[in-house]
Amino acid sequence: MGSFPQTVVSIFRIFLAVTIPLIFVDETYCAEDKHYWYQSANLDLKESLSYAWNTNTAKNVIIFLGDGMSLETIAASRIYNAGEESYLAWEKFPHIAVTKTYDSDKQVPDSASTATAVFCGVKTNYKVTGVDSNVPLNDCEASLNEDYHVDSILAWAQAAGKDTGFVTTTRVTHATPSALYAHSASRKWECEANMPASAAKCKDIARQLVENKPGKDIKVIMGGGRQQLQSNSTGLENDEVNTWSCYRQDGRKLIDEWAADKTARNFSNVVVQNNEELFSVDTENTDFLMGIFNNAHLSMDWNRDTGPKGQPSLENMTVAAIKILQKAEKGFVLAVEGGLIDYAHHRGHAAQALRETIRFSEAVSATLKLIDTTETLVIVTSDHGHAMTFNSGADRGQDVLGIATNSEYDNIPFTVLSYSTGGPNNMAYEVYNSTTAIRKDPSLENTTDFTYSQQAAIVTDEAQHSGTDTLVYAIGPYAHLLHATHEQNYIAHVAAYAAKIGEYYNNSSSNFQAYSFIFLTTLIPILLPRLHR
Ligand SMILES: *[C@@H]1O[C@H](CO)[C@@H](O)[C@H](O)[C@H]1NC(C)=O
Ligand SMILES: *[C@@H]1O[C@H](CO)[C@@H](O)[C@H](O)[C@H]1NC(C)=O
Ligand SMILES: *[C@@H]1O[C@H](CO)[C@@H](O)[C@H](O)[C@H]1NC(C)=O
Ligand SMILES: *[C@@H]1O[C@H](CO)[C@@H](O)[C@H](O)[C@H]1NC(C)=O
Ligand SMILES: *[C@@H]1O[C@H](CO)[C@@H](O)[C@H](O)[C@H]1NC(C)=O
Ligand SMILES: *[C@@H]1O[C@H](CO)[C@@H](O)[C@H](O)[C@H]1NC(C)=O
Ligand SMILES: *[C@@H]1O[C@H](CO)[C@@H](O)[C@H](O)[C@H]1NC(C)=O
Ligand SMILES: [Zn+2]
Repeated sequence: MGSFPQTVVSIFRIFLAVTIPLIFVDETYCAEDKHYWYQSANLDLKESLSYAWNTNTAKNVIIFLGDGMSLETIAASRIYNAGEESYLAWEKFPHIAVTKTYDSDKQVPDSASTATAVFCGVKTNYKVTGVDSNVPLNDCEASLNEDYHVDSILAWAQAAGKDTGFVTTTRVTHATPSALYAHSASRKWECEANMPASAAKCKDIARQLVENKPGKDIKVIMGGGRQQLQSNSTGLENDEVNTWSCYRQDGRKLIDEWAADKTARNFSNVVVQNNEELFSVDTENTDFLMGIFNNAHLSMDWNRDTGPKGQPSLENMTVAAIKILQKAEKGFVLAVEGGLIDYAHHRGHAAQALRETIRFSEAVSATLKLIDTTETLVIVTSDHGHAMTFNSGADRGQDVLGIATNSEYDNIPFTVLSYSTGGPNNMAYEVYNSTTAIRKDPSLENTTDFTYSQQAAIVTDEAQHSGTDTLVYAIGPYAHLLHATHEQNYIAHVAAYAAKIGEYYNNSSSNFQAYSFIFLTTLIPILLPRLHR
């Protein structure tokens, strides 16, 4: 069967899967008797039985990573978006896996160590990026040892002649994207100004992006982080220096240097800094695109300026990236990060986190319309869980940002969503004196507002990551290799095997190898404990 009909069939399947539940669900739910659920399950069964393993070589790979997008976040976002019955863009992908997210030295990881696992295929120490566990946090000297460096899927793709890109809603030098191109003993070394004297010999992450391989050969780079790249960046209109993250002071203007390098190498290149500029890019005739839309991270979607001088949505950046990369004869590898889901959770603002997740889903939807899953492997995952909890008590159809019910203990209402850990803004109690503290009544506040902070059980500096497993959703070539509970670093190896890049560059993709691969990974957990005895 040619690729065109297969694509149509797979798009139609996703369309049916998303719309059928909406058609069948009755407003009052009284039509949902046993016949309804039998019928719904039968449709699901038919669809599952229709799946065949796709053992094509993946020409393209797109990895979407929702930072801090826990399963609770996915469930609540789905309800917030279109109700309990709905599905986000990736939820009907045919293959799903679970990954264990602990890193080399911590039970609960950070985004740099997990990005190194997802993108470079190696677990490593908390807060280091693009290096293995031989490099302790902040040890510049150790990070200079190239034996300890780990390459990312972007480096493997480039070595195989593919084009590469990444887009993020955070700074392009932030923890998650940094693992794609940098090797650093600290995720914090985004620009020279934040590096201690002991790290004088090490190159900051921004310079690694612009000066080193694979960074300087990445065709599409989009996100925030202007002040990490350009010294004394005064930003554009209404874009002040963000004193919370580092800002470059060594006089280097890395955006200008990036453009000069491409021009010297005879590549057509363009730098864009707002919507107007991004939307006018001639994607057909552009080799290299750098889009830097803010001094710091991009704005949270709920108060993003969507006008001509404003910032693009994740969907806008993803679509532009794909249009540029799709010209590559040998295919491409693209990483897309919804980075502000985590940022919203850290500040204990559930509504913002759900909104960011829905925008992330829209970027996935737009992607599925542009690519062909017979030749493109699409993986959607998250790096780690988060502190948000999803509480019991609300009726179906109720606002997921609203009140669940009253507490049996203090008779004060509580919200559907709350946090296990949170910052001072998530303080649940009003403290009157040394003996009396009473839990605040959330029904007296607008809990659906983006600025509302849900109550947290433990107050610390901010809401923190959780150690729960994360999900991996996959469609396209070799998506079926994601099928069990895996270590998180397995994801990069599946992408590499499917696309025949990196260590699998010379592997032939016979079914026999696919079977033996699955057979072996299934046997490892059975055999290992026995070998230990
Ligand atoms: C601007 O950059 C120069 C180096 O070019 C540096 O000496 C100066 O301190 C910087 N000014 C500010 C305000 O950061
Ligand atoms: C770029 O193009 C110019 C003019 O055609 C040529 O002289 C030069 O050698 C080229 N440089 C590279 C790096 O290919
Ligand atoms: C930008 O993305 C938004 C959704 O995030 C979409 O509604 C809009 O049409 C996009 N604009 C362009 C020019 O693609
Ligand atoms: C503490 O505050 C509560 C509530 O205002 C009040 O009822 C109680 O008398 C106070 N106790 C002391 C010791 O001040
Ligand atoms: C509560 O906040 C939401 C979201 O910002 C807003 O749409 C709504 O009007 C607010 N409700 C009240 C009663 O202020
Ligand atoms: C693939 O095979 C070629 C020829 O044997 C070899 O030179 C190359 O290093 C191999 N590549 C990888 C990634 O193993
Ligand atoms: C890939 O090829 C190498 C070299 O032939 C072999 O050692 C390795 O087992 C193969 N891996 C898989 C997953 O087939
Ligand atoms: Zn985080």
